[in-house]
Amino acid sequence: MDPVTPEDFAALLTPEGRALLDSLHDYDPAQELAVATRLRREHPAALVSAALGQARLRQRAVAKFGAEDAFRMYFTPGGGEMATRASVAEYRAGRLAALGVRSVADLCCGIGGDALALARLGIRVLAVDRDPLTVAVARANAEALGLADLIEVREADVTGVDTAGHDAVFIDPARRGGRGRVFDPESYSPPLSWAVAAARSAPYAAIKIAPGIPHEAVPADAEAEWISDQGDVKEAVLWFGTEPGSVRATLLPGPRALRTAEPLPDPEAGPVGRYLYEPDGAVIRAHLVAEVAEQLGGRLIDPTIAYITADELRATPYATAYEITDVLPFGLKKLKALLRERGVGVLTVKKRGSAIEPEELRKKVKPQGPHSATVILTRVDGAPSMLIGAPVSGP
Ligand SMILES: C[S@@+](CC[C@H](N)C(=O)[O-])C[C@H]1O[C@@H](n2cnc3c(N)ncnc32)[C@H](O)[C@@H]1O
Repeated sequence: MDPVTPEDFAALLTPEGRALLDSLHDYDPAQELAVATRLRREHPAALVSAALGQARLRQRAVAKFGAEDAFRMYFTPGGGEMATRASVAEYRAGRLAALGVRSVADLCCGIGGDALALARLGIRVLAVDRDPLTVAVARANAEALGLADLIEVREADVTGVDTAGHDAVFIDPARRGGRGRVFDPESYSPPLSWAVAAARSAPYAAIKIAPGIPHEAVPADAEAEWISDQGDVKEAVLWFGTEPGSVRATLLPGPRALRTAEPLPDPEAGPVGRYLYEPDGAVIRAHLVAEVAEQLGGRLIDPTIAYITADELRATPYATAYEITDVLPFGLKKLKALLRERGVGVLTVKKRGSAIEPEELRKKVKPQGPHSATVILTRVDGAPSMLIGAPVSGP
C-alpha cells in the first residue's frame, strides 16, 4: 500500500472523497486493478489510491468495530491494527465511568479506539498522539461518530502534555517497533516507567499493556487486570487509584470478573477425574487458576499445567468443561486405532505442555467417520498423555 500523507487523507474528507469512499463499501479487493482503472478516469489518481486503501482498511476493521462504525470510521494501516477493539474499549470506559470519571487524558490515542468509547459514555477526552496522519484520522473519527464536541484531538508528544485537571489518565503505549512487536516494557513508546509515573500523578489511571507482562513487573500500587474477549486474551491493564495489589481476570462479553487481593496457593495435583476444565486465558494469565479450582472442588492434573480436573460437574463461567472417557499415555498408533474403532471423523485437538502440533497430529491420524471427539495432549503427573473426551454442552 502506498504511504498516505495527511494531504491525501484530507482529500478523502472532501465531498468528492467521501462520495468515492462510500461507493467502495462492497468493493472486492481482488478486483482492485479494474476498479482503480475505471475510477481514475473520473478522479485524481492519488485520491483513488487513498480511497481504495481506506476501503480495504474499513473492511478489515469490521471485526474490531462492527460494520456500522467501521464503515463510518477512518484508519491508518498500523492504527487499525493497534486500536483497542470496541468491546474491550467499551468495558474499560465503563469501569472509568463507574469510578465517577468525567474527563480523561488519552495519551497515545492512535486512531481513537479508546477515546471514542469514552466519549460515547459522555466522558470528555483530551486525545493526544504525535503522528500527524494518526491525529487527522482520530479527528475525523470523532467527527464521523458525532463525538467531536467531547473529544479534543491534539498533535503532541505525550511526554510534554500537562494532564492536571483531568479525572483520569489513560495510556496505551505503542508496542510495535520498526522490527515488529516489542516485548520489553521499557522499549514501549513511551516506556512503561514513564507511563507509570504519569499514571501516579492522576486521581485514576489505566495503562494498557501486553498480556504477557510478568507479574513481577506489576507495580505494588497497581491493580492488574487481564481481559479476554470470546476466549481470546486481548490485553492487560494496570489500574491506579482502584484496588492496589489486587488481581482480576475479566471475561467479555459479560463482563464476568474474578478477582482477589490474596491469591490462593497452587492447588494440589491428582488423578484425572471424569471432568477436565480448561480455564479461560485471562484466568491463567492472572494466575487465578487456584481460585477457579477451589470453586470447582477440583485439583490440577499436573503441578505445572493449568488444567483442572474434578469428579463432578459444576457450572463455571471461567473454564470450558470436557467429559473425559479415556486417559492414555501418549502414542500415535494407539490414538489412531481408538479413533478408528469409534468412527471419529471430526477431531478437535487441544494441547498444553505438549510440543505436538495439532494440525500435524490430525494429518497423521487421518480421522474418518461420523462421530466427533476431542483429544487433549498434555502431561499428567509429569508423563506425556492423551485425554479423550468431548466438551460438556450446557452447564
Ligand atoms: C497502541 S497505539 C494507540 C491505540 C489507541 N488506544 C486506539 O485504541 O486506537 C499507540 C499510539 O501511540 C503513539 N505514540 C507513541 N509514542 C508517543 C509519544 N511519545 N507521544 C505521542 N504519541 C505517541 C503512536 O503514534 C500510536 O498512534
